[in-house]
Amino acid sequence: MFVLSAVAWPYANGPRHLGHIAGFGVPSDVFSRYMRMAGHDVLMVSGSDEHGTPILVLADKAGVSPTEFVDANHAVIAGELADLGCTYDLYTRTTTANHYAVAQELFRRVWENGYMVERTQKGAISPTTGRTLPDRYIEGTCPICGYGEARGDQCDNCGNQLEPEELIDPRSKINGETPEFVETQHFFLDLPALAEALRTWLEGREESGTWRPNVIRFSLNILDDIKPRAMTRDIDWGIPVPLDGWLDLPTKRLYVWFDAVIGYLSASIEWARRTGDPDAWRRWWNPVSGIGADPGPDQVSYYFMGKDNITFHSQIWPAELLGYAGRGSRGGEPGVFGELNLPTEVVSSEFLTFGDRQFSTSRGDVIYVRDVLDRYGPDGIRYYICAAGPESQDSAFTWRDFVQRNNSELVAGWGNLVSRTAAMVAKNFGEIPGPGPLEPVDEDIRATVVGAFETVGPLLERNRVKAALAEVMRVVGEVNAYVSRTEPFKLKAEDERERLATVLHTLVQCVSDLNTLLAPFLPHAANRVHAALGGSGEFMPMPVLTEVVGLDDADEGKRYPVISGDYSTTPPWRSVPVVVGTPVTKPTPVFAKLDEAEVLAEWGLS
Ligand code: MF3
Ligand code: ZN
Repeated sequence: MFVLSAVAWPYANGPRHLGHIAGFGVPSDVFSRYMRMAGHDVLMVSGSDEHGTPILVLADKAGVSPTEFVDANHAVIAGELADLGCTYDLYTRTTTANHYAVAQELFRRVWENGYMVERTQKGAISPTTGRTLPDRYIEGTCPICGYGEARGDQCDNCGNQLEPEELIDPRSKINGETPEFVETQHFFLDLPALAEALRTWLEGREESGTWRPNVIRFSLNILDDIKPRAMTRDIDWGIPVPLDGWLDLPTKRLYVWFDAVIGYLSASIEWARRTGDPDAWRRWWNPVSGIGADPGPDQVSYYFMGKDNITFHSQIWPAELLGYAGRGSRGGEPGVFGELNLPTEVVSSEFLTFGDRQFSTSRGDVIYVRDVLDRYGPDGIRYYICAAGPESQDSAFTWRDFVQRNNSELVAGWGNLVSRTAAMVAKNFGEIPGPGPLEPVDEDIRATVVGAFETVGPLLERNRVKAALAEVMRVVGEVNAYVSRTEPFKLKAEDERERLATVLHTLVQCVSDLNTLLAPFLPHAANRVHAALGGSGEFMPMPVLTEVVGLDDADEGKRYPVISGDYSTTPPWRSVPVVVGTPVTKPTPVFAKLDEAEVLAEWGLS
C-alpha cells in the first residue's frame, strides 16, 4: 500500500512548544513508523510555513528581514523535529522555487477550470500607519458564538473561519485602534461550486467509519454554510498571483490557504526530484484506479494536525484538489499533475493545554520542545504524548504527570524489565541461552506477546495511539508478572540450569518482541534496548538533518536545512527469533528516573 503521511506545516514564527508536537509531530511519526514496519511504502512530508502576515509583523519587530527571520526559524524547527525523531522523507519549506511553481500551477488550473471568482472585499488598514492590517491581528467578538477574543481569520472558540469585517467591535491587536475597511480586489475559491463534490467525498469518508467522530461531524457541519473564500491577500511577502496583470503586483500574494496547504504536494514533488526519479511522487498522488476522491485501497493519505486546522484539510484543500481536477459543478480538466488523491483521513488532535489554559507564547505559558529534549531526551515526551495526549479530547499537561508516567511506566515498568532480563542473562550465561522444553507458563506468555502484534497493529493503523500503547504496556505488565511467577533469580542449583535457560530465553524473546511493539512510540529507547540484548547497528532508523542546495534557477546558490532519511532498514512488525549465543553484557539503564521536586525547580515551579 502507498501511504502518504501529510504532516501540518508549522509556522516559521519561532520555536515549537509542546502543544504543537502533541498535535501533529508525535502522532504522525508513530503512525509512519508503524506503517513502514507493517511493510507499506510510506512517504512522509512537511515543511515550514514561512509566508503570511504574522511572520512579517514578527520580523519587523525583531528588526530583521522576513527572509532572515524564516531562515533562522526554519533551521530551529527542523532541528527540533529531527531530534524528536520524526522520520520525514522530506521536511522542507514554502520559500522554495519548487513550492512557488507547484502552488502557481494549481492556482492557474483552478482558475482556468472556473473555480476562482474575482471579487472585491473589504480589507482592513491601520488608520495611523496606512498599512494593511493582518487578519490575525484584528480581534473582536465572534458574530457566530459571541466569543470576545475571536481573530479576524478564525474564532478559536467555535472553530469557524471568519473575515475580519464580520467581527463585532473589531480592534487592532497591535495598538488597539479600530481598523478602517477599504475596498480591495481578490480571488475567491468558489467553494459552493465544489460543495456537492465535497459532500460526496466526505460522505464516503463518513461511511468508512474511521474518522474521529468530532472531526467528521465538524467537517460535515461546515459544509452547510459554505461560501467563497479569499485565496489572495494584500501583502508583499508570499507567492505572486500567477495571472496576467496580477503577477507583477507587488502587494497581492496567495493566501496561506493556497500556499502552505499545497506544500504536501510540492514537498512530495521536491522529494521525488531529489531522489532522481522526478515522477516518483505520483505513486502516492495519482489514483491508480477510480478517481482522486476515491482512489481504491492501495493508496491512502493521512493528514495530521491540531483541531484548529480541520477546515483547511477537510474543506479547503480537498476543494482545491477537486477544482484542479475539474470535478466541481463547472467541470474542467486536470493540469499537468493529473487527477490528485483527496485525503483518506484527516487525523486531528484536540488541544494539549498547560494546566487548565492553552499554551500561549505571548503570555509566556509555554514549554519549548527544545528545553524538554535537552533535559529529558525525546522518548519521555513522546511517551507522554502517546499515553496522555489530546488524541480525542483536550488534555492538560502537568509536570507531575510527566514525572509520574516516566517513573512508574517507563522506568519501573519497561526499563526495569529490560535491565533485569539483560542482567540475569549476562550474569548466568553471558549470552542468549538456548531453551529446554517449554512449560505452559512459557507458552502462555509467548502467545500473549505474539498476539499483541495482531491487536496493536490495527489500532496504530487507525491512529488509536493511546489504546495501542495501553495494550503494549498491559503486555509489559504480563511479562513482568511472568518473571514473578517463574522466579528465574531463584533458579540457582545445577539441576535447575536448563529451566533457567528456558525462562531467560523466553524472557529475552518477549523483551525483544516488546521492543518491536514499542518501537513506533519509543524509537530511541528501542535502539538502546536492542543494544542491551546484544544487537548491533541501529534497530529503528533515525531522520537526518542535512543541508541541500536549491533545485531551480531561482533558488541558485540557496542552501537550506531539510530533514530526510533512509528508512529502508525499518524492522518488520512481527516477532523475530532472537539468536542463541548472542553475547549479552551487563546493561546500563534504558531510562532515567526523574525527581519531581527537581523537575519542578528546573521549570521555576515549586
Ligand atoms: N501553518 C499553519 C498552521 O499552523 C497551517 C498548517 S497546515 C498546512 O496553522 F496545511 F498549511 F500545512
Ligand atoms: Zn465563535
